[in-house]
Amino acid sequence: MGLTMGLNLLLLVAMVATNILSLYHLSSTIQSKPTPPPAPVPDHLRHQLNTIRATLTHLTRLRSTSSSSASSATPSDLLLYTHLSPMASSCRDHPDLLHTYMTYTPFSLCPDDSQLAESLILRGCHPLPRRRCFARTPSKLPSSLPADPFSPLPDSAVLWTKYSCKSFSCFDGGLGFNMKLEASRFTSSGSNLDLTIPQLLQIAKDASSVIRIGLDIGGGTGTFAAKMKPYNVTVVSTTMSQGAPYNEATALRGLVPLHAPLQQRLPVFDGVVDLVRCGRAVNRWIPTVAMEFFFYDVDRVLRGGGYLWLDHFFSKGADLQKLYAPVIGKLGYKKVKWTMANKTDSSGVKNGEVYLTALLQKPVSR
Ligand SMILES: *[C@@H]1O[C@H](CO)[C@@H](O)[C@H](O)[C@H]1NC(C)=O
Ligand SMILES: *[C@@H]1O[C@H](CO)[C@@H](O)[C@H](O)[C@H]1NC(C)=O
Repeated sequence: MGLTMGLNLLLLVAMVATNILSLYHLSSTIQSKPTPPPAPVPDHLRHQLNTIRATLTHLTRLRSTSSSSASSATPSDLLLYTHLSPMASSCRDHPDLLHTYMTYTPFSLCPDDSQLAESLILRGCHPLPRRRCFARTPSKLPSSLPADPFSPLPDSAVLWTKYSCKSFSCFDGGLGFNMKLEASRFTSSGSNLDLTIPQLLQIAKDASSVIRIGLDIGGGTGTFAAKMKPYNVTVVSTTMSQGAPYNEATALRGLVPLHAPLQQRLPVFDGVVDLVRCGRAVNRWIPTVAMEFFFYDVDRVLRGGGYLWLDHFFSKGADLQKLYAPVIGKLGYKKVKWTMANKTDSSGVKNGEVYLTALLQKPVSR
């Protein structure tokens, strides 16, 4: 269990880092100019800085040409599309990425650039503009797909060009691709921070609350959805394919992946969902105001009496008391479970972090 947790942290880093960076980026671009980088810059930061630089260049250019003449480099399909449908304003903050994305030959095969799309989405450019090209698919189909979502996944069903791994077995255990490990999740409780699915369903039952549909935010490869399926609960997982085929794996397991970033308004109508689970993707790396908007959007989609489950939310110990507990408290939910514990992995100890697992019930009426 401890190993799983450590590896899950890897998952967190792999899946969420860029997502969170994008949020920081959003807030930092609003605030001020970027400071000059120190000597050794990691690749992803260099990338971020380049986009910031490109944005500034773009803005300067717009200002100096009095905005009447759009950049001559704007791809024609981008110009065409902007007349048809709105695009997220953040798309315009990344003209270099956006132009690359929209530079393609219409009516032919799309470039093999789903990681570019992913990068734009994670920077808040969502919805992405549509394109008039054919997305690539693997050249041969797997002969069959398993009915059991914990069976090994067929490598041939994924386009591996965009990933450094070239097979499912290549990923670290905790990332969600080791089906033996995944099968053991949500079934037993290793600590008070764990809520098992039988416990969850019993709590709901005792409250005469029926759970039939749910959303798993940052759902990885969809294991929570897979685990809820035998209980006839339909869970849809939001997941990104940053560095690993999380969306592809979820779909191959017969579950629905929603390719939606954390900062997007949930693509679900008001008051229709019985349960929202937030895994560790929702944590202190999200700027507080962005997190507030997120929680209120979760509240919007939850029905009265529905449950919000914060599963291993982490933050600095002091912040949990001073910042996050009040933010969560403002929702006015009933605390069915509220368990805190020290985060004992190395980064947790270093940063004085704590975990919170909370099961909160939305009031039936306000
Ligand atoms: C799920 O639904 C099926 C078909 O209606 C039923 O046979 C099964 O007992 C249900 N399982 C649970 C755990 O309710
Ligand atoms: C949690 O960590 C703090 C220091 O960060 C320490 O003072 C406290 O005793 C720890 N609590 C437990 C239960 O280990």
